[in-house]
Amino acid sequence: AAAATEMAPAARGEGGGKPFVDEMRAVAMRLHTKDQAREGEKEPQAPPVARWEPTVEGYLRFLVDSKLVFQTLEDIVDRAAVPWYAEFRNTGLERSEPLKKDLEWFTEQGHTIPEPTAAGTAYASYLEELSEKDPQAFICHFYNVYFAHTAGGRMIGKKVAEKILDKKELEFYKWEGTLSQLLQNVRTTLNQVASSWSREEKDHCLEETEKSFAYSGDLLRQIFT
Ligand code: HEM
Repeated sequence: AAAATEMAPAARGEGGGKPFVDEMRAVAMRLHTKDQAREGEKEPQAPPVARWEPTVEGYLRFLVDSKLVFQTLEDIVDRAAVPWYAEFRNTGLERSEPLKKDLEWFTEQGHTIPEPTAAGTAYASYLEELSEKDPQAFICHFYNVYFAHTAGGRMIGKKVAEKILDKKELEFYKWEGTLSQLLQNVRTTLNQVASSWSREEKDHCLEETEKSFAYSGDLLRQIFT
């Protein structure tokens, strides 16, 4: 994240103006609670991650729903009903395969893998709908889901593993290659794609961030409820 704000626009492969992904990040950071991230502005409503009391059952529900959401995002860009969605194929951030392996591991450990919950299926169908009717809003979710997972998501995974998985590192939290480079490549693609959007389309994308937090928040909450 530091590199995103420190690197000059020219070095990042675009010309003129504030890179759009910086705007996306700024809106997202403001929607964090003060205990979640330094730049957060919201008052906490739930216990901080450090005080979560996760259960394997709750965490499994979160992982199953996450797999559905990532699979949905990956299918949408593979299908590319909107031609430029194809730019977001094979970013290296894809998470449905690693999650499949993790769920197999839980099965080997004797756990029963649940079906997706209403929170997971609601988010997946919302993403399907947006991807066809509202590309700018869809891209907001694409950005927030993938980037949140590499930031707070990773931190959460570490804390949960310490508490209930004997520190087992899941595939969900491992990337092939250098994560910071993968993220930077996607930021560049986001900036390039958004460079053809009107100011109204950009604002519309940014305004969707709250919904992204609401849907992802519903998924995350399952870990400790
Ligand atoms: C970044 C924590 C939930 C979206 C971050 C950062 C932290 C964090 C520590 C890094 C800030 C920095 O770069 O200095 C958390 C915690 C969460 C949470 C503890 C929940 C318990 C969410 C949710 C979303 C989200 C629900 C949206 C769906 C993002 C985005 C970034 C970010 C887009 C920027 C990543 C980047 O620039 O690479 N979060 N977050 N976060 N978070 Fe969260």
